[in-house]
Amino acid sequence: TGAIDTLASQVGSISLSDAAVTYPKAHPHTNPLDLWRIHIADTLSKISGVEKSIIFPVIAWTQSLDKGDFIIAVPALRIKGAKPDALAAEWADKWPEDDPLVKKPEPSKSFLSFYIKGTPATQAVLKVIREQGADYGKAAFDGLRDPQDPSKGRKKIIVEFSSPNVAKPFHAGHLRSTIIGGFLSNLYEAAGWDVKRINYLGDWGKQYGLLALAYEKYGDDAELKRDPIDHLFKLYVRINAEMSAEKENIEAEKKEGKDVAELEATSLDEQARRYFKMMVDGDEAALSQWRHFRDLSIDKYKQTYARLNIRFDEYSGESQVTEEAMAKTGGEMTERGISENDNGSVLVDFTKHVNGKEGKQLGKAVLRKRDGTALYLTRDVSELKGRHEKYSFDRMLYVVASQQELHLKQLFKITELLGYEDIRKKCQHISFGMVLGMSTRKGTVKFLNDILRDVGDHMHEVMKRNEDKINNYNFNMEAMTSFEGDTGPYLQYAHARLCSIRRRADLTDAEIASADLSLLTEEHAINVVRYLSQWPDVFQNTLKTLEPTTVLTYLFRMTHVISSSYDHLQVVGSEPELKKARMALYDAARIVLHNAMSLLGLSPVERM
Ligand code: ARG
Repeated sequence: TGAIDTLASQVGSISLSDAAVTYPKAHPHTNPLDLWRIHIADTLSKISGVEKSIIFPVIAWTQSLDKGDFIIAVPALRIKGAKPDALAAEWADKWPEDDPLVKKPEPSKSFLSFYIKGTPATQAVLKVIREQGADYGKAAFDGLRDPQDPSKGRKKIIVEFSSPNVAKPFHAGHLRSTIIGGFLSNLYEAAGWDVKRINYLGDWGKQYGLLALAYEKYGDDAELKRDPIDHLFKLYVRINAEMSAEKENIEAEKKEGKDVAELEATSLDEQARRYFKMMVDGDEAALSQWRHFRDLSIDKYKQTYARLNIRFDEYSGESQVTEEAMAKTGGEMTERGISENDNGSVLVDFTKHVNGKEGKQLGKAVLRKRDGTALYLTRDVSELKGRHEKYSFDRMLYVVASQQELHLKQLFKITELLGYEDIRKKCQHISFGMVLGMSTRKGTVKFLNDILRDVGDHMHEVMKRNEDKINNYNFNMEAMTSFEGDTGPYLQYAHARLCSIRRRADLTDAEIASADLSLLTEEHAINVVRYLSQWPDVFQNTLKTLEPTTVLTYLFRMTHVISSSYDHLQVVGSEPELKKARMALYDAARIVLHNAMSLLGLSPVERM
């Protein structure tokens, strides 16, 4: 884009077309700091004789800006025989005084620290941010099959996340999966990948037979329509309580030596098993009842997800894995000698296929029960193959709580043992721990909707109440809804404040775009620019860590620097040219904050 080309031509020594060949990983037009890296590599290569392509990847970012904008660890250049400390000092000394982009580097032991010069950075970075707007920071090239040739198309990634169980509570694990999965989907989309969001519902198994029985006994059509998830859950709890009581009773009778065959044959457990068998065998009445529950639940889930800015491309689920597909997978497993018969049930004994510790850790897993019903693991194996056939994905992420680590390891190992190593390599488990103490004043939070409602209520209370906090309160709720500290509301506040400055300044886009940015000479202004320039790097780094915290850490640092600049860089009340320039700075900050918040799934607000 314009600003970068202009700056490159001003520097003189940089030819962007040459740089594209020498530094294929550099994208100066979308990541202005790459121009600085190109320039540093070019210059250091001249001084040191080290090849440019070796220097470029070694130019690292720093922990904090007081340590420079970039740092090079001289030993990483692997120069034989020379002392790194001496080289660092020598190169710093030889660095040209009149370098247009960076100050003379500062040697410290075997490191060289670089500080960018304020004026060129301000000009280029703020203009690039304005030009790119919502795209600033995105790395659209990452998802290209061939970065040199966009016509070859984009890589495909499946993000499987949320995946609640119909009629069962949506617990904190599902909430985290939803948030993290939504974030990862946004991230990959912004990185140019073709993203498929899949919700793999727990919607199959004997418990859905039991639920149908409960509905026959206690179901209420109107209640089901009004709040299907709530109604089904209540039925589910009620029937499970009945079933447990029944089981206890049978145990007690057994102990007394009574014949319980009759009781067992008519028990809820047995009825549920039979009902589910009908579903498996394709009984239309049973299936349409179940489908009705499922459809209503999905409609409700969709409403709730919409509140979180989350959508799915596909509602898959355990029910969608066909018996034929599983029979085929089962056949392959027997053929390859992976599975074995154990008294009528089918299992995998990993210790026989995987050596040592790993095999022991994987242990044994049942694939099919004695009555022939396939289990969770079998479904996942077939589903994985099915997804690969359907989407031929390049990557797939399973966003699932850490409790299922073993399950996913077993899934991946079976895939490998079946000879689909290429597919296995594309899959990754995104694991996370549980949220502890997830409860509200009303008791344990059960459904996502309840969580959202309670957080919403609480947020309103906090907004109404402007006195100090009265007492200690439940960790989650209080911390989540606070404006102080590193919280979501704080980010919203920071965004709203930038919007309010813009409103009060009352300048048009054209006026802001024409601002004379060279007026931004204060250290506070330059520090804001330095932070804003990092956003594309932070984005790229997030693609490596896959963690929202990479974005958050950056955002809180960035917003703190902005908020501490307000006293020094007033917009309203400054003379007209300076006012425009400062507005351009804050407007760029607003764009970056907006982009980063959106990536996290937040909808930045303009007023509070
Ligand atoms: N429904 C499952 C649960 O709530 C999570 C599904 C995880 N994904 C998978 N492919 N197994 O525990």
